[in-house]
Amino acid sequence: MAARINPSILSADFVNFQSEFSTIQNADLIHVDVMDNNFVPNLTFGLPMVSRMQQITPKPLDVHLMINEVDTWAVGYAEAGCFSVTFHAESSQNPVALAKRIRAAGARAGVAIKPNTSLDGILDELAEFDQLLVMTVEPGFGGQSLIESTLEKVSAARRRIESEQLDVWLQVDGGIDESNIQRVAEFGADTFVAGSAVFKADDRAKQIENLRNLANLGLSHRH
Ligand code: DX5
Ligand code: ZN
Repeated sequence: MAARINPSILSADFVNFQSEFSTIQNADLIHVDVMDNNFVPNLTFGLPMVSRMQQITPKPLDVHLMINEVDTWAVGYAEAGCFSVTFHAESSQNPVALAKRIRAAGARAGVAIKPNTSLDGILDELAEFDQLLVMTVEPGFGGQSLIESTLEKVSAARRRIESEQLDVWLQVDGGIDESNIQRVAEFGADTFVAGSAVFKADDRAKQIENLRNLANLGLSHRH
């Protein structure tokens, strides 16, 4: 299992995405946070903007939808060519049915849960998704501190992925930086979103490399 580092462009310069992308070319995927000022108290951009990003991105897009009307909007991001589309379980009437529609439109389907949402409802359906995103902060803003109690869900999900030999990526998002990524990897996450930790670094490519090395160290120390 090799760690993936997905920089979140929530911390990038919103009027210079093309040049910002060029500073993170060694990323595994590029994490794109869509917010509707409804599901979360913040607003970013929607499908027209992400479709345009899709045309210029050097790496596959990892779209994270923090919106209410996910059953209406998610498939559009898959149709726009985004590699992965993750929606919140809290927003969908039927997460498994939505995942099937996203896959049918050609993207990987991810399901996300907020820090206070239990994993129980999802665990038995894990095989229906390509990615589980365990939020490690309350969604909405970059630069927050990781909520320690969320990591139990990461270990529980990893145990289930291993016991059922599932091909599901286990993503964490929020408060990940060089001080904690190795430890978070030891809980079993394999896909790491990092916003401020990457974009505030003087040498972003070097920081991505550093985070990846630390995460791989954590994965190799798992027991
Ligand atoms: C928060 C977003 C994150 C955010 C993470 O709701 O989903 O992707 O950009 O930012 P950091 O890494 O700064 O916590
Ligand atoms: Zn995100």
